[in-house]
Amino acid sequence: MSQKFFLTTPLYYVNAKPHIGHAYTEIAADVLARYHRAAGNDVLFLTGTDEHGQKISRAAQAAGMEPQAFTDSISETFKELWKTLNISYDDFIRTTETRHKEAVAKAWDKVKSSKVKVDGKDVDVLYMSTYDGFYCVSCETFITEGLLAGDSHCPDCKRPLEKMKEDTYFFRMSAYQTRLIEDIKGGKLKVLPESRRNEVLGFLEHNVLSDLSVSRPKARLEWGIPIPFDPDHVTYVWFDALINYISACGYGKKNDSFAKWWPANVHIIGKDIIRHHAVIWPSLLYALDLPLPEMVFAHGWWVQGGEKMSKSLGNVTDPTEIVKKYGVDSFRYFLLRETPFGQDGAFSEEALTVRTNADLANGLGNLLSRTLTMCEKYFEGKVPSGTAVAQYLAEAPGEMAKKVDETMGRLAFSEALEAIWVVVNKANEYIEKKAPWVLAKQGHTQELELVIFSLIQTLHVLAKAIAPFMPVTSENMLTQLGIDGKIAKGSSLFPRIETEKK
Ligand code: ME8
Ligand code: MG
Repeated sequence: MSQKFFLTTPLYYVNAKPHIGHAYTEIAADVLARYHRAAGNDVLFLTGTDEHGQKISRAAQAAGMEPQAFTDSISETFKELWKTLNISYDDFIRTTETRHKEAVAKAWDKVKSSKVKVDGKDVDVLYMSTYDGFYCVSCETFITEGLLAGDSHCPDCKRPLEKMKEDTYFFRMSAYQTRLIEDIKGGKLKVLPESRRNEVLGFLEHNVLSDLSVSRPKARLEWGIPIPFDPDHVTYVWFDALINYISACGYGKKNDSFAKWWPANVHIIGKDIIRHHAVIWPSLLYALDLPLPEMVFAHGWWVQGGEKMSKSLGNVTDPTEIVKKYGVDSFRYFLLRETPFGQDGAFSEEALTVRTNADLANGLGNLLSRTLTMCEKYFEGKVPSGTAVAQYLAEAPGEMAKKVDETMGRLAFSEALEAIWVVVNKANEYIEKKAPWVLAKQGHTQELELVIFSLIQTLHVLAKAIAPFMPVTSENMLTQLGIDGKIAKGSSLFPRIETEKK
């Protein structure tokens, strides 16, 4: 039965152009979206850009541009990259769009009227107070704990913190601590992988959750969404950004869209923003009286030289350059195959080359080209007819499908690819074992027919299995496998990348 599947990526800050880390989140989500569509599900794949706040305001200033014009131009570079990477998003939301601002206004009104029980009494969820503490502008995050004496650097991105003291609205997040622990423990909100779930629970169980400052005085920061009931303050950028997940699917609108899509099935994020998604976001949803998302999955970082890839560290690789050099599908394959989703990975062109040559050129590419060459040579490009695939290859696709289904359910992309490559390797082994060139020489035509028929059938199955991961290659394979039993051999799927001998 067809089901709805709503998945999201984070909204990317538009202070600078996208890099591999951003490409990673987006490719993973794209694979999941394509997988669910192929399974017949009704998919909403949401992405977009995060455009307000101090960080963006300063970046615009540094570029000598008005913030709106600045965000217009950078947001466009994300869209361009998603095109290059074949990202099949269904909706791209910008937090500067009217539909989003309207939803944020609705959320403010709802939170303003919300009460929560504290010591048996109903109290306001929202209150005005003074924030006196540190703030990391780059992470747009308040730093209230973990500060070593004398060290005023962000524990996450290591940049200097800024001291802040100002009157702001506070969101009574502390009141939801117990409920949140219960919901994570009870599995109402799945936090994956296990290590991240433990991290969040450890944090919630060993700290007193603070209330969250959710506004900025307009006198200091203008670049934010207005608060409907207070013209002197604007919305804190995270409060604004998280709401995209509901504003994009119709929160506050009089139609059926919101009821259809919310709650989200999965929010895919990076581990740097796990607390925003597994602590702040569910608390906000409680206050809005909305159900929690089913799952938050936090992937790891791509590191280079032991450091997280980031613009400020100057160790970023431009994904567009990589795609130009190695092709989009090699890049997509590498990112999801090299490192288990959830763990950190080390990016290098050398590692990408090794993977591409071994798995794609020698593995899949070679399987297709050998099979088609033999089909041309022995059968003039006409696929021999058959009814059943040879015993040796008969069961592998079924086992693969089961394994892929199970692994995709927990976003274990590298395991899914491994399961597909069991079949690739098996089919290559089958060629070695059968030595069709010997069969041809000895005139064993019937057996030769079975071999080629079986290989072509298996390649069809493989083309479909890889489609979510490598859509271009999948299409190319299907074209070469031909229609009406006549193959159309083309150039090799993945030419070997020559490396310099050291
Ligand atoms: O955090 N490796 O945006 P952002 C892997 N606007 N992933 C990486 C990475 C790396 N080196 N660097 C970044 C924000 N990412 C907020 C989100 S959501 C309502 C608001 C990925 O542009 C990672 O997934 O700083 C991170 O969470 C995401 O890029 C967005 O980073
Ligand atoms: Mg970041």
